[in-house]
Amino acid sequence: MADAHTSFYLTTPIYYVNDAPHIGHAYTTVAADVITRWHRQRQENVWFLTGTDEHGQKVMRTAHDNDVTPQVWADKLVDQAWEPVLGTLNATNDDFIRTTQARHETAVQEFIAQLHDQGDIYEGAYEGPYCVGCEEYKQPGDLLDGTGEYEGEKLCPIHTRPVEMISEQNYFFAMSKYQDRLLAFYEEHPEFIQPASARNEVLGFVKQGLQDLSISRSTFDWGIPLPWDKSHVLYVWFDALLNYVTALQHDADGNPTPERFDEYWPASVHLVGKDILRFHAVIWPAMLMAAGLKLPTTIFAHGWLLVGGEKMSKTKLTGIAPSQIIDVFGSDAFRYYFMRAIQFGQDGSFSWEDMSAQYNAALANGWGNLASRLAAMVNKYYGGALPTAGELTQAEQHIADVAAKAVIDADKAIDAISPNRAIDAVWTLVDALNLYITEQEPWKVAKNEAEAGQGGRLATILVTAAEGLRTLAVLLNPVMPQAAAKLWDSLGAEEYLGALDAQPIETAAEFGRLKPGTTVTKGEALFPRVDEAATA
Ligand code: MSP
Repeated sequence: MADAHTSFYLTTPIYYVNDAPHIGHAYTTVAADVITRWHRQRQENVWFLTGTDEHGQKVMRTAHDNDVTPQVWADKLVDQAWEPVLGTLNATNDDFIRTTQARHETAVQEFIAQLHDQGDIYEGAYEGPYCVGCEEYKQPGDLLDGTGEYEGEKLCPIHTRPVEMISEQNYFFAMSKYQDRLLAFYEEHPEFIQPASARNEVLGFVKQGLQDLSISRSTFDWGIPLPWDKSHVLYVWFDALLNYVTALQHDADGNPTPERFDEYWPASVHLVGKDILRFHAVIWPAMLMAAGLKLPTTIFAHGWLLVGGEKMSKTKLTGIAPSQIIDVFGSDAFRYYFMRAIQFGQDGSFSWEDMSAQYNAALANGWGNLASRLAAMVNKYYGGALPTAGELTQAEQHIADVAAKAVIDADKAIDAISPNRAIDAVWTLVDALNLYITEQEPWKVAKNEAEAGQGGRLATILVTAAEGLRTLAVLLNPVMPQAAAKLWDSLGAEEYLGALDAQPIETAAEFGRLKPGTTVTKGEALFPRVDEAATA
């Protein structure tokens, strides 16, 4: 386990404000939130950054289509959609950067001026296909041949929409000269690109040979002007990637925060979707090398949420808003479902049927029912006061062992950036506790007066279940903070052990932490029944 005061800096991509968030975007944010909450409970110094990517043609065109300026459009989308969705998802980001903030624009200009002064940026001519959806210059070999309405055109393989030919005088970043240093870095740091499939893709790409990158545009003006040639704006990806550094250099009001930069740079993890892996694993480290800055520890590429086998997207009208699901199941279940049902790094799909089945089986009947049964029995047999346990048998030892292993395995899984495996590990305890209650049959033990008093068998069973639930509240708090808080409340744990968020992961499985006599209350259900009609 990491030391206290280890710093952990994690970022999401910054989201384009051309449209409102769908569950594909929410997926990245939720993963980021679960991982950072876990690290906070390891008592590390955590910084969780998210934000919005506001420049470029894609945003500019959407704004024009809506008859407003790009800034007005961006302000509206941030206020009405991108900031509120963080609350909907129950995300605990420490900062929110917008690329139109002065703190970002000024620092970006300083960064590119440095690269220009040192000879890493030169003037040239660019001709080639560009996808505005990706905001990316494409290799002609990567394109698809259009059919039907796009007959005769070349299409972007991600957006299946026509690319546009660009022929312009631009400025270039001399990226090719970093090719060998990049390959050496990938070799020395196998943890840099994860998972392995992503690493292989990038290695293959860079080994084919890197070209210099066109980093400016002069045919539109929605971007950061180049300090030495104001007739050009910076290529939106060059601008956007820098957010990970500029957000640490100044706070949102523009005050310098050098201590923040020292504490958190280089980033521990940049979480990205697989479609934007190359920008993060090739262009970004080359930019940092050019500027003499340290490289992040890990770029982790997760998979896509698919609809009908294709990436969910608003342009294809397949986007589902997070609130559509959260209004029915709540944010905890949303977080649980996406983090557990899809192996992080692989593609996955969402269906109402599967969500509903998982909600009932794992949450309402699995964890929720366990919690309500325990509270009901402590109330029925001991008037709501947690009894004093008696002698422990092998069955109790088994529960303690499962709990201890769950902590270790889940912690390792979080280090491996595998939230689904972390939840699987914790769920071994949910399952073991349900089995324990079934096998021990406390309702039968209760009938025997000699075994039903303080220090008797019944008390031992209920205290063991309560300790197991306490462990679960601590371990599941990063994933399902609302349910975990309800359980913490029901166990009366706060008064004696303090706030749930402050409970260290490391000691979560130490049994004997709840105090005999503590009031256990039958609170509301952790996961109330969901009206089937709402999901039909
Ligand atoms: N603005 C760039 C990122 C710049 S980071 C310096 C961008 N924005 S985006 O809004 O298009 O996408 C943001 C993130 O959402 C990406 O990681 C992307 O992979 C993710 N997702 C968008 N649709 C998705 C799915 N259908 N499924 C999973 N994640 C997807 O790219």
